[in-house]
Amino acid sequence: MKTTSLFAVIAATFALESSALSEKQIDELVGRMTLEEKVGQLVQSPSSRLEGLASQESGDEGLPPEIARAVREGCVGSILGACGLKTYNAVQKLAVEQSRAGIPLMVGNDMIHGVLTQLPIPLALSCSWDDGLWFRAGDLIGRETPLKGCNWTFTPMVDISRDARWGRIAEGPGQDAYLASRMSAAMVRGIQSDKHVYPVAACLKHYLGYGAAIGGRDYNAVEMSESTLRNVYLPPFKAGVEAGALTVMPAFHSLNGVACSVNKWILEDVLRGELGFRGFTVSDYNAIGECGWENRHGMSEDGAPLAAMALDAGMCVDMMSETYEKYLKEAVEKGLVAESTLDKRVREVLRVKNALGLFETPYIDERAVRGSFDFEDHVALAREAAAKCCVLLKNENGTLPLKPGVKVALVGPGAEDLRNFMGCWVATRVENDRNGTIVEGLRADGVDFTYVSGYGFDDEPVDDGALVAAAEAADVVLALFGEHGDESGENQSRMHLELGSSQLKVLEVLKSTGKPIVALLGAGRPLVIKPLLDKADAVLNMWSPGSSGGWGVADVLTGRVAPSGRLTVDMPYATGQCPVYYNHTRTNRPHDMPTQGERWVTRYKDGPNAGLLPFGYGLTYTTFEYSGERVERRGDDLVFSCRLTNTGKAAGVETVQAYTHELVARETRPVRELRGWKRVELNPGESAAVEIAVPVAALSHYEGSKLVDASGRHHCWITRDSASGRRLDIDL
Ligand code: NOJ
Repeated sequence: MKTTSLFAVIAATFALESSALSEKQIDELVGRMTLEEKVGQLVQSPSSRLEGLASQESGDEGLPPEIARAVREGCVGSILGACGLKTYNAVQKLAVEQSRAGIPLMVGNDMIHGVLTQLPIPLALSCSWDDGLWFRAGDLIGRETPLKGCNWTFTPMVDISRDARWGRIAEGPGQDAYLASRMSAAMVRGIQSDKHVYPVAACLKHYLGYGAAIGGRDYNAVEMSESTLRNVYLPPFKAGVEAGALTVMPAFHSLNGVACSVNKWILEDVLRGELGFRGFTVSDYNAIGECGWENRHGMSEDGAPLAAMALDAGMCVDMMSETYEKYLKEAVEKGLVAESTLDKRVREVLRVKNALGLFETPYIDERAVRGSFDFEDHVALAREAAAKCCVLLKNENGTLPLKPGVKVALVGPGAEDLRNFMGCWVATRVENDRNGTIVEGLRADGVDFTYVSGYGFDDEPVDDGALVAAAEAADVVLALFGEHGDESGENQSRMHLELGSSQLKVLEVLKSTGKPIVALLGAGRPLVIKPLLDKADAVLNMWSPGSSGGWGVADVLTGRVAPSGRLTVDMPYATGQCPVYYNHTRTNRPHDMPTQGERWVTRYKDGPNAGLLPFGYGLTYTTFEYSGERVERRGDDLVFSCRLTNTGKAAGVETVQAYTHELVARETRPVRELRGWKRVELNPGESAAVEIAVPVAALSHYEGSKLVDASGRHHCWITRDSASGRRLDIDL
């Protein structure tokens, strides 16, 4: 390390034994940085600018001159993109050993549901209702990320979404604030686990309310009451901050008229002030720039005032808009924003670099990282997760699991296309030969099957003849439905959630053969699947199950693993219902109010209010009976209890769920809210006492900015999903 770097001087001044900095030393470092160096810490450059660097073993020989200059002059503080290990170490060397300040770089990319190994999409992961699995998913991401030359991942995405039209519903934890909060905390802890040989920073995104884009159209504005924002959309961020997330990404959209990227209330008052966030914020791609100028948010006409506005609002790092790079120095020099504010933001960035240990260990040692985990364990986890996230939506006459020796006709699009199984966020090439589509999965599980494609997901022609022949030669048909795995995610909003016309026709064709139909539903969002529920004998929702997805799904189909996933979103009855969610607030004219009659209640003329299948729903290969449901107050807890009995012929897992509804409050309360759950595994005939304790304090809710306690009457349920159960009453 160059001993004359500012960092080295500070280290020497304070006689540091280890090179990690104290708060005081961070202040000292910032105090000695030039204005340009400070701005540089807030500038993020794309890794594409580093092309050519990968071939360099060391130094800057042969580098694109502007890169070497920018890094050496301290004009860049972080890089966007998985630049590769060699490039990472080479560019880090420039920053650490050749820049005056000697401050290491952060390199970040989107490892949303895997890196070398691809797990099921987050929406699918949420359906496991399993904190342990969420932690292990984060842990896998944290271990694999450095191998792509990154020390930072823009994960987890914790946006609540109640709207299946929004394609990014695939990337998040579903529609429930409590469940999403537990998933957020577990994933942050996994990503940032101190067991990792090379630490990686997590990033909570997209702050705040992004999933409520009007009309379900990505990047659209969000209009929302403060109460809803705090009760529904904020909790997963709060949980992630409490779990130690080092960075947060404000979202693209405008929230009640103010773009999140320059929204001082959400960034300074709420995130830092109330939640106590001490890391740094990073803008979304070009998002600061998009707050300005004609045709964008239009919150400022000029670069310098915009840079000042964003910095003052609490935005630390500018991803890709060049607003800070071009205008922040000018903004400070003109006094549009105080230099002390810049110092504060730089300190926030340095604190995270310090917490990551980058000052001590700037380089990634590939052998140490590869040696720190067994790749086969990750492949096994991907398979286990794929199975655990499947939600069985229908199973008539015990169609599933497939009986041993049965002849299967596998039909439909994408069965051999790994990309279809991977899901929406495949930021880096999945580098291994241990991947499996459903074709490989069935083969691995020894299923006797033939495969014909026969149709597409959209409105392509249907090969009736081939489908009928395949079905007639088999005992059971396994048919793929839904949307291709890359049709959800960013900017993949839909106004039609119905299955394509070819899929509807296929259902008729297959039905005409009289063979039992198992519909294998793959999608990154809830779709309108009424025709599948009406016509198929069994429906298994596999979502986008990841790189070992075919194996995990085959494990469920064959009964090697009993399905245990539960929906974390309502499945809509029709697109026109969206957003549809179980925890909607009450109305003056509930549709089930008998005295009102049919006509003057809240309803659609042409369909039901409720979704087709509710939040929390999911079947398995056995049945469970609930009895003795009770709720009581014990000290500071509300305790739900029941006896659960496995009444079927197979072992299985039941996810016992606890819900409440508060009857009277100044602001109308949701008809039900999830408060806790327990996954209980029972053998046939076995029964167990189940208890779920919920701190009464957790039942408080916000009315505007005021936290209101939960005193008063509550309805309670301990039950199998959000639409069932015996009502219990309690006064708190
Ligand atoms: C835009 C996306 O909104 C965000 O989720 C992602 O982290 C950035 N691009 C960087 O890839």
